Amino acid sequence: MKNEILNLLKREGMISDEIDDANINDFADLIEGIGRTEKEYIKSSEISKGLKTKYVGKNLYVFNEVGSTNTIAKFLSKNGIGNGSVVIAEKQTAGRGRSGKSWESPLGGIWLSIILTPDVDYSKIPLITLATGVAVAKTLEEIGIENPEIKWPNDIMVNGKKVCGILTEAITNFNTIEHVIIGVGIDANLSIEDFPEELQNTTTTLEREIGRVNENLLIKLFLEELEKIIELFNSKCYEDILKEWRKRSYTIGKMVEVKKPFSRSYDAYAAGISKEGELIVEKHDG
Ligand code: BTN
Repeated sequence: MKNEILNLLKREGMISDEIDDANINDFADLIEGIGRTEKEYIKSSEISKGLKTKYVGKNLYVFNEVGSTNTIAKFLSKNGIGNGSVVIAEKQTAGRGRSGKSWESPLGGIWLSIILTPDVDYSKIPLITLATGVAVAKTLEEIGIENPEIKWPNDIMVNGKKVCGILTEAITNFNTIEHVIIGVGIDANLSIEDFPEELQNTTTTLEREIGRVNENLLIKLFLEELEKIIELFNSKCYEDILKEWRKRSYTIGKMVEVKKPFSRSYDAYAAGISKEGELIVEKHDG
């Protein structure tokens, strides 16, 4: 992986071809400032201008094309790049979705990953995903999307179709969570034809819903919303997060198919979400 990012940084012209693994002592020093570049449509200067956050997005690493921003963010976090840093790409060639699925990430979308170092245990990780969903939904409301909804746990829906997915990954050392990587994929300035046929009925894009959006403004607004809600999380105001989530729930009150590893799936009624962010379902037999 170190080679992968070294090659990527070389390809992007951000470090000299002379540098190899052997002469790097402090990777954090090496990559200091690499994101201050302007890409085709993601401009770090536009995102940073007037960004009202204390730490989220203060360090931006912007790329034209990477395999997966989550993978890069994981690597960076293990090499001393800290809380609130954000990796953004205009295109991913190996975007990752939940349950080991791949994630379509063509040019025109917003593909980003945030590195967080919250002081939490495992049971609270799902709440970070729910909090991120709320931050995305609020951002979409701010740019004029009416009634974005959150399908448990982490799909953002507009008019019943998915517009954004979230992949949260924890980096652990023994039993301690060292970092949490939150990957967010927003189908922004894309048309439905940019997606494979099998996704076209279930996917929508911001462009389709409200016309072209300003990606940099959207990223900035999202980073601000995310920091606000992560602050609530850090202050243990979990009920406030859940209240915002419930207000926008797509799932509660509907019939859902419950799938669990190694057992048969079944239909149930989605009755609510627990304090831990789990979905509470009722089987037909009560
Ligand atoms: C899902 O709904 O399955 C989650 C999709 C998450 C996609 C984003 S795009 C940015 C980040 N990098 C990845 O490889 N995946 C996440």
